[in-house]
Amino acid sequence: MRIVLVGPPGAGKGTQAAYLAEKLSIPHISTGDLFRANISQGTSLGKQAQEYMRAGQLVPDEVTIGMAEDRLDQPDAEQGFLLDGFPRNQIQAEALDAYLAERGVSLDAVLDLEVPESEVIKRIAGRRTCRNDSSHTFHVEYKPSKVPGVCDTCGGELYQREDDSEETVRKRLEVYHRETEPIIDYYKAKGLVVTISALGKVAEVTQRAMDALAAKA
Ligand code: AP5
Ligand code: ZN
Repeated sequence: MRIVLVGPPGAGKGTQAAYLAEKLSIPHISTGDLFRANISQGTSLGKQAQEYMRAGQLVPDEVTIGMAEDRLDQPDAEQGFLLDGFPRNQIQAEALDAYLAERGVSLDAVLDLEVPESEVIKRIAGRRTCRNDSSHTFHVEYKPSKVPGVCDTCGGELYQREDDSEETVRKRLEVYHRETEPIIDYYKAKGLVVTISALGKVAEVTQRAMDALAAKA
């Protein structure tokens, strides 16, 4: 399946994507993770993205679209993918449509994770992220690592993301409402959107998502 995951910062996109990608045998492609990997490797792409991310702003489309398309060009994404954090505005949504149309394929579903803002703030405040791989995420209360401060998956050090300060989270939410939410209507008009509540235990949300996607397939 070719799936786009949308939802506000801290909704649990990355958490759910890891489980869903495994269950559906498709790669999890997160533009946020790709940017963070570039930043930690000190690439020029990472340098271009860093200031925008730090400020909670979107990285410019020309940088983001090129990076996303390069990743989609990899052979593992040929049969399907779960896109997390891309597209994030109308221009990116249209670029993705054009990219897929050129290859004679299209999206199967847009999974919209709904969660109240008060919950988002709690989830982000307690999130801890692995320095080795930002797709390894934990929560001090809801999903604690076995050893405090140490990643269960790879033993890396856990830290609080620089853009997870309350001030920057508020900025990211503002950008989400202004830039990203409108693309949900764009995809609704194409009949692609399935909305689920992202409240409840991680495994419950995964099951809800699998049921919703099965109904769409
Ligand atoms: P990105 O990394 O995509 O961040 P985001 O969309 O703000 O999403 P988050 O990673 O904050 O949250 P999430 O929904 O994945 O939640 P998670 O699973 O971690 O983007 C960062 C920045 O990169 C952007 O601001 C922008 O600058 C740039 N960028 C990226 N893509 C771009 C694009 N396309 N265009 C331009 N710029 C772009 O969960 C959060 C916490 O909650 C965790 O601690 C988790 O353990 C916990 N949790 C999860 N589920 C549950 C549950 N059910 N119950 C309790 N706790 C839970
Ligand atoms: Zn790790």
